[in-house]
Amino acid sequence: MALEVVTKPTKPFDGQKPGTSGLRKKVKVFQQEGYTENFIQCILSVVEGLEGSTLVVGGDGRFFGKKAVDIIVKMCAANGVGRVLVGQEGILSTPAVSHLIRKRKTQGGIVLTASHNPGGPEEDFGIKFNISNGGPARDIETNAIFQGTTTIKEYKICPGLEIDISSIGTKEFQVGGHNFVVEVVDSVEDYVEYMKTIFDFNTLRDLLQEKEGGKSDFKIRIDAMNGVTGPYVERIFMNELNAGPTCAVRTKPLEDFGGIHPDPNLTYAKELVDAMRSGEYEFGAAFDGDGDRNMILGRNGFFVTPSDSVAVIADNTSAIPYFKTGGGVKGLARSMPTGCAIDRVASKKGVACFEVPTGWKYFGNLMDAGKLSICGEESFGTGSDHIREKDGVWAALAWLSILASQRRPMREVLLQHWTTYGRNFFTRYDYENCESAPCNEMMKCLDALSSGSLNGKEYSNSGKTYTIAQVDNFQYTDPVDGSVATKQGVRILMSDGSRVVFRLSGTGSSGATVRMYVESYETDASTYEKDAQEVLGPLVNIALEISRLQHFTGREKPTVIT
Ligand code: G1P
Ligand code: ZN
Repeated sequence: MALEVVTKPTKPFDGQKPGTSGLRKKVKVFQQEGYTENFIQCILSVVEGLEGSTLVVGGDGRFFGKKAVDIIVKMCAANGVGRVLVGQEGILSTPAVSHLIRKRKTQGGIVLTASHNPGGPEEDFGIKFNISNGGPARDIETNAIFQGTTTIKEYKICPGLEIDISSIGTKEFQVGGHNFVVEVVDSVEDYVEYMKTIFDFNTLRDLLQEKEGGKSDFKIRIDAMNGVTGPYVERIFMNELNAGPTCAVRTKPLEDFGGIHPDPNLTYAKELVDAMRSGEYEFGAAFDGDGDRNMILGRNGFFVTPSDSVAVIADNTSAIPYFKTGGGVKGLARSMPTGCAIDRVASKKGVACFEVPTGWKYFGNLMDAGKLSICGEESFGTGSDHIREKDGVWAALAWLSILASQRRPMREVLLQHWTTYGRNFFTRYDYENCESAPCNEMMKCLDALSSGSLNGKEYSNSGKTYTIAQVDNFQYTDPVDGSVATKQGVRILMSDGSRVVFRLSGTGSSGATVRMYVESYETDASTYEKDAQEVLGPLVNIALEISRLQHFTGREKPTVIT
């Protein structure tokens, strides 16, 4: 019997503008009658060749995810989509969605996540559209989606369609004269198989597997932070690489992430930091709610900044089989505020290094055009052109491959890197949940400095002096399609290559979050093992003085320092 398609009248909701990475709001906002439906209808309206298309749907398992899957599948059916691939129980990590879109050559996918933001009935939810290359929608699609949300009058849904996403299998429906197929897929299988083609699992197994008597001399600790990576971590590290049953913790995805911030940084992944400080483990990694972010630690809690992490991976591609095929490393890239360590690797290798605005979506075009192989963001994002999202588990496997080939502690790997290239010290200060108006005012004042009024001016603090070379508001022209992104953050560039960057977060769900990025480049080997906060202290003070940040935000101290 054919199921009926219903067209429901609706009215626009304010503020359905996707941010750096999709639409993120409190769960309660998404639960309003028609709110989620409106946004989904507007996503579907930008899918190329929607009629008879295949779309992937899945997310990080947070609260409201299953409800959203149900709405999306019913709306896909009503809007003429031919097939929907759904992760079992609605679970798919963001990297796994990207891979599935590419592997199955679908027209795109919908990712249900608010990434590293807390989850639960009182917390955040998010919906993100990925296009057919597997990457986040570009400005052209997100603008069209937003435009749609401001004028929407009706949406289509198939209320009678009942699906069961608890077990793997395919089911066919007749929906208003069309065939509609729902295929529930294993959440981890395809991704794990893909990782086996990228890395040498035999070498990794050799490094990690428990030796005689249940003891390994290379113990690792992986913290899935109650997010989506748990099942991937169990399958890869426990089952495939035999790293033992205690190599991973918090591997069951929870709807509220057990009440924690599933954000792998030194503040929110403190449990991992503490465990690493015990000296028991050689390697530690944590991932965020949807599995695209990573934090990498060495023995005794040695912290590898994400800016250094991507540079070291780029410098050691010989340890990763994937980069030995297909013409090797084509180019490197980082987002603008990310520390510049990778630039030095690129220039030594003689490959291009691109500087793009914040947000993974800007890497996609370069990858599709064959110009980019490895890239990263300071915000714990690392990845390659194997998919079109950053990939936490991939980053951990890349690091383990490097450690397997170098057979020395992570600290020594980094020291060697700094000895070769010099060290870009980097820190980020976040001022979360500030009032929006004064923060916008601060950005306006900083933007006004682009006129050049401070150029050449000297600032001194705690014995260090910096001279401002230039101030600008970062603008990016995509070298592939010529599209232009303006006002991506104010950069204060110093004459010695040090820099300070200010921008407002585009992922927060309420208020304004100010991000201040501070970086200084040192070639004096006696500084390499110093604490970044100590080295950067004077420049931080200068940055606060120039921006009058404390005045505008009313905050003495940042919420998070990384
Ligand atoms: C933040 C990070 C950015 C990352 C994004 C999505 O965005 O800074 O690098 O791409 O999350 O994970 P922001 O809140 O700064 O706009
Ligand atoms: Zn994420």
